[in-house]
Amino acid sequence: MARAMLETLTPQPPDALLALIKLYGDDPRADKIDLGVGVYRTGQGDTPVFGAIKASEQRLLETQDSKSYLGPEGDMGFVRALMPWIFGSADPTLVGRIEGMQAPGGTGGVRLALALAKKAGVAGVWLGLPSWPNHAQILADLGMEACTFAHATPAGTVDMDALRGAFAAALPGDALLLHGCCHNPTGIDHSPAQWDEIVGLFAAKPLLPVLDLAYQGLGHGMDEDAAGVRKVVAALPEALVAYSCDKNFGLYRDRVGALYVVTDDPGRMGAIVSNGHALARANWSMPPDHGAAAVRIVLEDEALTRQWLDELDTMRARMRQVRARLAEAGRVGTVDLTPVGSQNGLFSVLPLTPDQILKLRSAHGIYMAGSGRINVAGLTMGNIDKFIAALAAVTA
Ligand SMILES: Cc1ncc(COP(=O)(O)O)c(C=O)c1O
Repeated sequence: MARAMLETLTPQPPDALLALIKLYGDDPRADKIDLGVGVYRTGQGDTPVFGAIKASEQRLLETQDSKSYLGPEGDMGFVRALMPWIFGSADPTLVGRIEGMQAPGGTGGVRLALALAKKAGVAGVWLGLPSWPNHAQILADLGMEACTFAHATPAGTVDMDALRGAFAAALPGDALLLHGCCHNPTGIDHSPAQWDEIVGLFAAKPLLPVLDLAYQGLGHGMDEDAAGVRKVVAALPEALVAYSCDKNFGLYRDRVGALYVVTDDPGRMGAIVSNGHALARANWSMPPDHGAAAVRIVLEDEALTRQWLDELDTMRARMRQVRARLAEAGRVGTVDLTPVGSQNGLFSVLPLTPDQILKLRSAHGIYMAGSGRINVAGLTMGNIDKFIAALAAVTA
């Protein structure tokens, strides 16, 4: 039988982090440390289901009486219940200016945001590097041009000069993508004053802001982590906000996210949203229901909301404790850990060579991404001293 097309496909490189998970799993050493995988871990090394989510799932099980189709917009109760948490409940001018739809995870939200931007005529998307690798992959898959600039300086601060340069070089009608908080992979976020400047830069040129908010509540708090997004939304005529509940509700594999559209022309909202629905329909038809329904039940119930916020506080406090302990260590071999203390979220990047990263793995059983990205939640008060000593040994 004649073959037609599939033989033209060439093997793609495996996802480096998934390969690292396999290597870690195969390592028999009892004191190995996994700093690779991007999920939160407790001080005991677990990634448990939130208590508030367990209770909500129980309620869902007892009360859900149909699994009939919803629509490409998903669970609008979920979409609406999240809005005050993201955009702040105080601002009445936001009514009618923001509409949302559910998406399969933050990834689905980013995909939808960029596909919608493309459909609206955006060709180039400005992206600070390093970034979450899927940003560039999604742009490539959509056939959009990624125009890149440096997100951070070697000293571990935001590279505002590079960002100003990107704004200057961008063509009217381009989009510029920013992480809302807890930058992946660097942990280096824009300060409130830098967000003010960013708003001014957007106001001076017709560029579409695309904001990726995947870790709200994991940096400094729900309000603090949304401050940049809120400034952009309050001051600018248009924005797209991709959101993930997969980290701040611990729902990773349930794929819970959303896309929010902001426009200062409510008369245009219907057209914009209908394009979002059409794109969703063509991509995944409708998003998975279960996790979003569980989040909705939490947010509609005061006691469950309080329980969720307590659990989130515990996570954030633990990550801040690990960061403080690393920063306290100061200079370790050639690596200055001090900036890690003021960075946010799950990740930081250490300036290590590929050889040093390999040595950490082979000689000390410490696994991290080839970029030097560490998941600070992989460290505990029980293994952090070993990590610091190993870092000193490989960079001496
Ligand atoms: C910056 C950023 N955006 C989006 C996502 C996607 O998250 P989700 O697992 O909800 O698809 C991630 C996840 O790692 C991320 O780091």
